Amino acid sequence: MADPIKLGIAGLGTVGAGLIKIVQNNLSILEARSGRTIQISAVSALSKSKDRGVDLSSYAWESDPVALAKRDDIDVFVELIGGDSGPAKAATEAAIAGGKHVVTANKAMLALHGQELAVLAEKKGVNLRFEAAVAGGIPVIKTLTESLAGNNITRIMGVMNGTCNYILTRMENTGLPYQDIFEEANQLGFLEADPNLDVGGIDAAHKLVLLSSIAYGTQVDFKGAVLEGIGRITIEDIHAAADMGYRIKLLGVSIMTDIGLSQTMRPCLVPNESPLAQLDGGTNMVIIEGDSVGQIILRGAGAGEGPTASAVIGDIMDIARGINIPVFGQPAKNLIKVASISTSVENPFYLRLNLRDEAGILAKVSAALAGAGISIDRMRQEGHETDAAPVIIVTHPTDRETLNKAISAIEKTGAAVDTPIVLRIETV
Ligand code: HSE
Repeated sequence: MADPIKLGIAGLGTVGAGLIKIVQNNLSILEARSGRTIQISAVSALSKSKDRGVDLSSYAWESDPVALAKRDDIDVFVELIGGDSGPAKAATEAAIAGGKHVVTANKAMLALHGQELAVLAEKKGVNLRFEAAVAGGIPVIKTLTESLAGNNITRIMGVMNGTCNYILTRMENTGLPYQDIFEEANQLGFLEADPNLDVGGIDAAHKLVLLSSIAYGTQVDFKGAVLEGIGRITIEDIHAAADMGYRIKLLGVSIMTDIGLSQTMRPCLVPNESPLAQLDGGTNMVIIEGDSVGQIILRGAGAGEGPTASAVIGDIMDIARGINIPVFGQPAKNLIKVASISTSVENPFYLRLNLRDEAGILAKVSAALAGAGISIDRMRQEGHETDAAPVIIVTHPTDRETLNKAISAIEKTGAAVDTPIVLRIETV
């Protein structure tokens, strides 16, 4: 058997412990498939004494992840610390500078610094692999980078934050408002330390921009992504959508157009018959469309010990097998910078307006829409006990910019008592 491949693992949370379990429990499978033994040389975390349910006694301990990254007895630095900069980035840079391969689950670090880290890794001839950073156990990075390498990718869509999908699904199933289910998710430990990473759409957008880079040969552009979280979705929206045959999902969509790259992460309505609508709880789904392959749908656990560690060990196995392909599928120095656009694609939209309940108010709304050239497909107003009348409008296809102009015009008339909810209806 060839020389062992030696790991240094920084970060012993859920994923780190899961990785150690795989190495300890499945070693003979790993050896048979890679032709090398997988050896954990050293580990690092904040607390040495914490019980993680795994035996760490045979591994060297480093309290400083940068020191771990620099050790001579590691070939692969496994970064499971998290955070877009700080120790995770410092240790990653130290590992690359020392000629070590890096495997990371850190979507935030790569979404913000992926280009510079990829350039560094490729100059040194080492791998920087990140399957676990996007959609947990779903092998989407490998699929895009390798299996679909011959395709012109035309669209990527995905539900890539399990916590948001859990919250929206539970609101639908229980009829309870957002804040109650947010608290429930918090009690269950689903939310990130900064919950806005989840419910603000940031975590999911980090994942989407990494996929865009591979798909379109562009430099990772998180700042160019348009984000909107799920915090303003009400149970009334969920019911109104359901009555019309839709479900609401926090949906990422990435499309390259002639005028730039559109990357949006927003709550959207998807038709009940769409595969995206079948997704309940914390599951993730990524849909990729390519000119040759057509549409493929990947579905699976987007987080958790086993699934995420499965993605990490998959990357380690590739390195053990001697595979080394560019970080984003083509040399990082060749990745292009493109303009970001909010969207040029036309869709129908769902609007929920809380209108002053007075004569002529609806006429003002329809005049504002007509003034922007937007045609109404469906409209309804429910009985109400409050002063404001909730009105749901579904438009014929239009683009977001035109719709925004119409919304501004509506707001100028004073017809609406608060900011309207605007949700794209996505065709899948
Ligand atoms: N917090 C994420 C989710 C998992 O809920 O899907 C890590 O990205």
